[in-house]
Amino acid sequence: MARIVAGVATSHIPAIGAALDNGRTAEPYWKPVFAGYEFSKQWIADLAPDVIIEIYNDHASAFSLDIIPTFAIGCAAEFPIADEGWGPRKVPPVTGHPELAWHIAQSTILDEFDMTIANEMPVDHGLTVPLSITCGQPPQWPFPVIPLCVNVVQYPPPTGARCFKLGQAIARAVATFDQDLRVVIYGTGGMSHQLQGERAGLINRDFDKAFLDGMTKDPLALTRITHTEYMREAGSEGVEMVMWHIMRGALDADAAEVYRHYHVPASNTAAGLMIMENRRAT
Ligand SMILES: [Fe+2]
Repeated sequence: MARIVAGVATSHIPAIGAALDNGRTAEPYWKPVFAGYEFSKQWIADLAPDVIIEIYNDHASAFSLDIIPTFAIGCAAEFPIADEGWGPRKVPPVTGHPELAWHIAQSTILDEFDMTIANEMPVDHGLTVPLSITCGQPPQWPFPVIPLCVNVVQYPPPTGARCFKLGQAIARAVATFDQDLRVVIYGTGGMSHQLQGERAGLINRDFDKAFLDGMTKDPLALTRITHTEYMREAGSEGVEMVMWHIMRGALDADAAEVYRHYHVPASNTAAGLMIMENRRAT
């Protein structure tokens, strides 16, 4: 049987991808950001998962305002890198896992989640930057990735509670997949940031730290944070953090934190990374 063994939550700041792609990681501004990612690279290499489920949001790359799925799962065999306006990032295309993706689609839909099935989907920095953070710059990604896209761009995004429940449904789906796979789930986005308006540049360290602490202390309490609170406390784009709840919901209640990295600023954003493991996973 397949099983989820660990989770990774991380920001997916586009400037981090650009710093990596343009060889700027050793510059004084970026050095401490990337130094904090070294642990995660070794950790995922040692863990060597069979497949990743990556929760992220599309930034008007695969979907425009014409069609806005709340949840969309990529069931293709391969996902091309999106052109976000300056050419696609020079990173490998993403290999999918159609069998497990279709199983998760079937299981979650029959479990009463209205999942959109995406058979073609270019993936943007929301998906590729977390892979770069945890894998560096390999000629090909070391594992297949199932992209699961969440609308956090156009109001209304799903609530944190709904996202947590989807994570639980994904865990049930994975547990009924009849192949012996070790699965890691990524939740991406955040942390506090606001890209426009009078409060552009807002960063709230206290909120972010409490959020990171809450992932182990009381994740259910975090799911009750409303959209308004995210906007007020973490900025208009801070609402991306609802995607972390999908990752958290997919892990066991007593999953343990094994690593965190928090750095301000990276671009105009607070960068956060947290790694968690299920205690009974082997
Ligand atoms: Fe984003």
